[in-house]
Amino acid sequence: MKGVVLAGGTGTRLRPLTLITNKHLLPVYDKPMIMYPIETLHSAGILEIMIVCGREHAGDFINFLGSGKEIGVKISYAVQDKNNAGIADALSYAEDFADKGDIAVILGDNLFEDNFENSIKKFKNGARIFLKKVKNPQRYGVPVFDKSGKKIIKIEEKPKNPKSNYAQTGFYLMDKKIFSFIKKQKPSKRGELEMTDTINQYIREGSIDFSVIKGGWYDAGTIDSLLESSLLISKKYK
Ligand code: DAU
Repeated sequence: MKGVVLAGGTGTRLRPLTLITNKHLLPVYDKPMIMYPIETLHSAGILEIMIVCGREHAGDFINFLGSGKEIGVKISYAVQDKNNAGIADALSYAEDFADKGDIAVILGDNLFEDNFENSIKKFKNGARIFLKKVKNPQRYGVPVFDKSGKKIIKIEEKPKNPKSNYAQTGFYLMDKKIFSFIKKQKPSKRGELEMTDTINQYIREGSIDFSVIKGGWYDAGTIDSLLESSLLISKKYK
């Protein structure tokens, strides 16, 4: 399977840091943030990776990662023309790269302890999302379960009154239908093509599966969570 790291967006929640560089090039403990999602894909056996980034700092990504040879992967790049057009918009740039195959997609600010190798081996079709129990679901995409608690009815993006304590993490396995789903989408109220709306199309079609991840998961997209991620990762080395 090929992998895509979504590293566009403006990182407004990390200003003024993101006025000088891209969010995903900021340090998390001892390396730039983007290294963590790349390592998550690599450790899951994914060797062909596309990075989708914004145009301002595209050169910095290439300077830093090059062809990927030094880290044992083959990296290609796509530029998302419009910053903050949304996660699903960023992914749409990977259609040719995916070449009608299944893809693993990871958000560039998501750090995982879990290894996804088995999930990738077992993946058949549709989409699989990965959930984690959290204390502050309002910040994330939140699944709504049916009465049995085993089936997801929909995902609500940053709901004021979350209907579960789970967050949809930024790791997704998807089949080729993803790109036709994105093409059908309209921008949300905040003007973005939302990945949550894409996932909801899979849910409506009845072809979604989910797993609850066991290990730690950090979204390093705010000043506090960036610091927290660095501290937690530093402890792992000590
Ligand atoms: O971290 C998990 C959460 O990520 C999910 O629970 C939410 O459902 C999902 O919408 C997302 O929420 P965030 O508010 O954290 O998304 P953010 O705008 O920070 O974007 C996450 C990554 O997606 C970002 O690091 C880079 C990429 N991105 C984002 C946008 C808006 C792009 O590549 N292009 C974009 O236009």
